[in-house]
Amino acid sequence: MSTLPDSLAPENHPPARGPQPTAEARQVLRIIGGRAASDGAGVRLTRIIGGPELPQIDPFLLLDEFRSDQPDDYLAGFPDHPHRGFETVTYMLAGRMRHRDSKGNAGLLSAGSVQWMTAGRGIIHSEMPEQEEGLLWGFQLWVNLPAADKMRAPRYQDIAAEQIPECVLPGGAKVRVIAGSMLGTDGPVQAVATEPVYLDIELPPDAAIATPLPVSLSGFVYVFQGAAMIGEGPGARRVERGELGALDQSPRFVASAGATGARLLLVAGRALNEPIARYGPFVMNTREQIVQAVEDFNAGRF
Ligand code: FE2
Repeated sequence: MSTLPDSLAPENHPPARGPQPTAEARQVLRIIGGRAASDGAGVRLTRIIGGPELPQIDPFLLLDEFRSDQPDDYLAGFPDHPHRGFETVTYMLAGRMRHRDSKGNAGLLSAGSVQWMTAGRGIIHSEMPEQEEGLLWGFQLWVNLPAADKMRAPRYQDIAAEQIPECVLPGGAKVRVIAGSMLGTDGPVQAVATEPVYLDIELPPDAAIATPLPVSLSGFVYVFQGAAMIGEGPGARRVERGELGALDQSPRFVASAGATGARLLLVAGRALNEPIARYGPFVMNTREQIVQAVEDFNAGRF
């Protein structure tokens, strides 16, 4: 970890797309399928954001789905590793994951729960499946921090399943509001720099959802069951299980399910439009800051 590739030069990012007055409902700009990957000590997962096809959707740096009932796919887990400069968000659908960090913090993530961890200047932690058989299913999202917050003190928001409010809309759509204020409901995740919205939306067959979504937030949907039409009118596009739809910044979000129903994440946040220097578990603004992170880690300063 002492030499860095030349590719660490900060990337240039175009400004976020502004609101589009001609398209009131958010439309899908691009559909991307995940690709098989392995991370940690050999956990098989699907990387949706963070690979070569889709390095980021500012401020989101990575999205992984892990889903397997084969213990060999997940037992190795994610032993001790550092993070600096961003937030990791783990949302569990099935199974259990034990979290421990180098400061003595520990917690158990069970089905339906969320951990929103602000790594800030740095933590070293492990994330290990706490089961030897059965289905392990969930997501990890990385949310960038603005330059001013990259070296803040670490913070955990561990949210139990029963603390996440669920709205049931006319027509049967069920929405778990994890972060953001949506549908008249405040999600339990608070005071995050990028003002994120994180919803788990379940659409029974033929159900739909339509809700305002602030134009200041860029975002995406990720369909993890069934298929959904995203948007309205002739521009609506079908997004299937395992696909991400990157959204424009129109002021409303509209989705509907066909005969099979759908379940999807809607995630949005304020784009940072800052330079990114990225090296494994460190995401900073400059190459010098990455070198410092590696030095700090090697010197035991995390
Ligand atoms: Fe981690």
